Amino acid sequence: MPKKIDVTELILRDAHQSLMATRMAMEDMIPACEDIDKAGYWSVECWGGATFDSCIRFLNEDPWERLRTFRKLLPNSRLQMLLRAQNLLGYRHYEDGVVDRFVEKSAENGMDVFRVFDALNDIRNLRRSIKAVKKTGKHAQGTICYTISPLHTVTGYVDMAEELLELGCDSLCIKDMAALLKPQPAYDIVKAIKQTCGEHVRIHVHCHATTGVTMVSLMKAIEAGADCVDTAISSLSLGPGHNPTESLVEMLDGTGYTTALDKQRLLSIKEYFAGIRPRYAEFLSNITGVETDIFDSQIPGGMISNMESQLKQQGAAHKIKEVLLEVPRVRQVAGFPPLVTPSSQIIGTQAVFNVMMGDYKVLTGEFADLMLGYYGSTLGPRDPQVLQLAANQANKEPITCRPADMLKPEWEALRSAAIALPGCNGSDEDVLTFAMFPQVAPKFFSTRKDGPKNLGKDPSAVPAAPAAPPAPVHAKDDGKGPVMVPINYDVTFNGKSTKVTVSPA
Ligand code: CO
Repeated sequence: MPKKIDVTELILRDAHQSLMATRMAMEDMIPACEDIDKAGYWSVECWGGATFDSCIRFLNEDPWERLRTFRKLLPNSRLQMLLRAQNLLGYRHYEDGVVDRFVEKSAENGMDVFRVFDALNDIRNLRRSIKAVKKTGKHAQGTICYTISPLHTVTGYVDMAEELLELGCDSLCIKDMAALLKPQPAYDIVKAIKQTCGEHVRIHVHCHATTGVTMVSLMKAIEAGADCVDTAISSLSLGPGHNPTESLVEMLDGTGYTTALDKQRLLSIKEYFAGIRPRYAEFLSNITGVETDIFDSQIPGGMISNMESQLKQQGAAHKIKEVLLEVPRVRQVAGFPPLVTPSSQIIGTQAVFNVMMGDYKVLTGEFADLMLGYYGSTLGPRDPQVLQLAANQANKEPITCRPADMLKPEWEALRSAAIALPGCNGSDEDVLTFAMFPQVAPKFFSTRKDGPKNLGKDPSAVPAAPAAPPAPVHAKDDGKGPVMVPINYDVTFNGKSTKVTVSPA
């Protein structure tokens, strides 16, 4: 009997986040839910920071209502979400009480599997949210963000796996947000974790398709013992998205492995989304093929387009090559963090600043915080000179504790601020929406009664001419694309703090 390989379907979250700027409306997902529910997936990923953000920012949709709807329409499926550990779905560290409340409410509204990651792979940032998931009795999946540097080794990843398992994680995920995971390292890491931590430890593998090599990586991971792989239905796959679900099924044919997926159901899902895709033409990613340059620059595709826009705005588009060379240097100075939200944006913007204004003449507030330990610790040491510069410019002391230990209980203050807003219904869910996106939530609360907005257009009404590049670009979530918004930076220069808004055109 071939070994059964489990599959997580990404169509309802990462696939449209990576390929159509997270704009898919709930209305366009509903008709596919019955087939998805009955196709035989291990889990259906359907919620995360960018989808939550997009719901309230663009779609006038209540993300909690979206979750409850999935719960109703996918009664046989495990619902899965991506959680940024102590950052939850936002961009700052939240105090532990807010973390507990968020996880509790997500579980209560129907979430089953919490894939928890920290951008710096700092285990201290993962502890509280994993504990909170365990408390609800739901599935806690501890995540290792995959990255490449002189300091990142198979042994290092195994050590992190052990630490995650000590926290009580029910499974592990190797998360490759930039399609950097080549076949052999995929094999080596999965094999080493299985050998060290035990064959029974569940390993899930999440890869993007951007570099063209990761379908083979999935195969090698499976051969090394991976239990579950992430794919997206073919009509919304490849490019900066993921490997196609149906191709995985066919690839395993004749091997010692099989999926239990129902091919008829997959065909219906594929055809359904093939019909939906053209309606979102204006949001589709410009990258459609393969980008192997990523292996040299190690910069995810979404991040490059982001930096291009930042440069263009300052009339310096021609400096992109210099910036691309600067990114790895900034990453080294910062101790080799993985490039994933929010570290990808922080490193990328500092690289732009260095090229435009001279090395570390101006530090963004975020970069100074990263250097000073306010996002957690990095694998490598941070450059002592730049660290001193950060301390001087930001007028702050470096910290070595868990960043959230510096925070005081904040639930009551968040609650008072949220319920004072017109349209806030006073529920914990609304308070959490406000806590995640305090800039966007007030407007959403006031317009919620108007109902969801579907940004998809009738393809016959959309000109066939080349689609306009997606408007204001700022990549979020795993550094790959998606919800695109202006971002505000606190820039400290000669001890003075000023606000800079980078809103790429
Ligand atoms: Co992803």
